[in-house]
Order: sequence, then structure tokens, then C-alpha cells
Amino acid sequence: MIDIRDITFFYDEPDEEQDDAGRRPALSHISLSIAPGEFIAFLGRNGSGKSSLSRLLNGIEQPTAGIITVEGHSTSDHAAIPDIRRAVQIVFQNPENQQVGITVGEDIAFGLSNIGWPQHDIRNRIAWAISLVGLDADEERPVTNLSGGEKQKLALASVLALAPRYLILDEATSMLDPVARRQFVETLHKVRRQHPFTLIYITHHLEEVVDADRWVLFRSGELAASGTPEELEQNVSLLEDCGLELPYTRRLAILLRQSGLPISANVNVQELRELLCKSN
Ligand SMILES: Nc1ncnc2c1ncn2[C@@H]1O[C@H](COP(=O)(O)OP(=O)(O)O)[C@@H](O)[C@H]1O
Ligand SMILES: [Mg+2]
Repeated sequence: MIDIRDITFFYDEPDEEQDDAGRRPALSHISLSIAPGEFIAFLGRNGSGKSSLSRLLNGIEQPTAGIITVEGHSTSDHAAIPDIRRAVQIVFQNPENQQVGITVGEDIAFGLSNIGWPQHDIRNRIAWAISLVGLDADEERPVTNLSGGEKQKLALASVLALAPRYLILDEATSMLDPVARRQFVETLHKVRRQHPFTLIYITHHLEEVVDADRWVLFRSGELAASGTPEELEQNVSLLEDCGLELPYTRRLAILLRQSGLPISANVNVQELRELLCKSN
């Protein structure tokens, strides 16, 4: 369980000359609990605070006020930081910023060595992680030879090898083309079914999170709303206000339903076409 209690976060150090009114926090009075096994989406415009909160969750940054606990340990407790960093892993937008090895195997081995994985088991673990994410590459393959989609799968393999209990994907699919993006998301959920972990998913693509347990909407560093996708997607003006756009068929289905047609929110294009033809 991750518990976020009324946290406020400023990047800049307080300035003697300037009062608080002159500074704008990156995050303001955020409270949120994230349950084990949950699939939760952080949504909102650029600059709304999603990445900042991610960095606070694994202790890269500390809240200016308030407290965050990961399984009971405060991220402000220095002694707890190594365990928290291990439990909460982040994959960022650009895989190249995270790749540290020359080869696929070295890249996965790096994190394992860092957390003191038994040396004799590292080769096994690398092979396990490569096959887990369905990366079509052996461990000798140079990282520079991988496509964008493969690099992102490698980033995923490298963190999954560490058996995180919480995985944050911070716009991890944004550099991928639609096909690679769909593949990556499918891989992710396949892995989650085999080895459950809490997933915190940050994206601008709502179609990737329609089956999340919960959406959390950020607006200018504040928590604008939190609820199930089914609840929040009814509120089109709130979504728009947070810079979010529902997938086209979903928006259409909701509008039609609001006008009285008996349509499920999960309707696909084919079903929608048939329903519309029938109702004509
Ligand atoms: N390293 C940084 N130093 C100073 N301000 C930052 C830094 N990173 C982000 N910010 C500011 O913090 C606010 C929240 O940004 P961020 O958490 O990156 O939002 P998001 O991930 O939702 O796009 C923005 O006003 C942004 O300009
Ligand atoms: Mg961000």
C-alpha cells in the first residue's frame, strides 16, 4: 500500500526574500492511497504534476510538506530508501535515458547487481526477463541494434527482473508508433497476469487505460478527481478541462447513451455501426 497524505512539493528552495505566495508548488495538497495490485492511471496535461508525484513515490524527491509511506515506511526515512527504490520502479518516456548496458544482457544485469541479486543466478534472471516481455533478442545483442519498441521492452524487462511491487510507467509508450504501443501494452498486461504488481500508468492516451481500476486526474498540481473510468468518462467537461480526450467510439457511445440509446461503454466500432443502422 502506498499512502500519500496531504503532500505539497516545491522544486525550488524557499527564498528568504520571497514569501510563499510568490512561488507555485509543483504539487499541492495531494492525498491518495494506492492499494496493492491496483491498476491506476495518472492523467492530466503536461505540467500538471504527474511525473513529480512519481519521483516522490520512489524517494527520488522528498515532499516539502506532508508524508508518503510505502508499505508503512516514509520516503523521508533515509534508512528505508533502498527498500523503497527497489519496491517502486519507474520506466520513463525515453528508454535511451535508462539504458546503461552495451548489450541487452548487461543492461538487465546492471540493476540486478545493484540490488545484490545472487551472482550465480543473474544469467538465469536475464533469460527469464527477456522471455517474460517477449523481447526477440539474445543477451549478446547490442542495445543500439534494437528498434524503439524493443528498447522500451528492454527497459520493461530490466525493471521487471527486479520484481518490483509497484511499477510506474511514465509516458513509457509515448515514443512508440501505434503498433509498437499496442504490443507493449499487451505485453505489460500479460506479464501482470502472471506476476501481479501494482501498476501506476501515466499516459495521454486514454484508450490505454480504459480498463484501469481507477483514474486520477491532475490539474495544475492539484488532484482534480479520482474515480473509476466509468464514473469519470461521463464527465466530458471535466476531462476536457484536464486536457483529456476519450477514444472516439467511446465518446460517441457515451453521448448516444446519454441521449437514451441502450449502448454499453465498451461497444466496438462494428457493434456501434450495427446499432446505429438498426436504430435508423
Ligand atoms: N526538474 C524540475 N525543476 C523545476 N520545476 C520542474 C521540474 N520538473 C517539473 N517541474 C515543474 O513542476 C510542475 C509539474 O511538472 P511535471 O510533474 O513534470 O508534470 P507532468 O508530468 O504532469 O507533465 C510543472 O510546473 C513543471 O514545470
Ligand atoms: Mg511528465
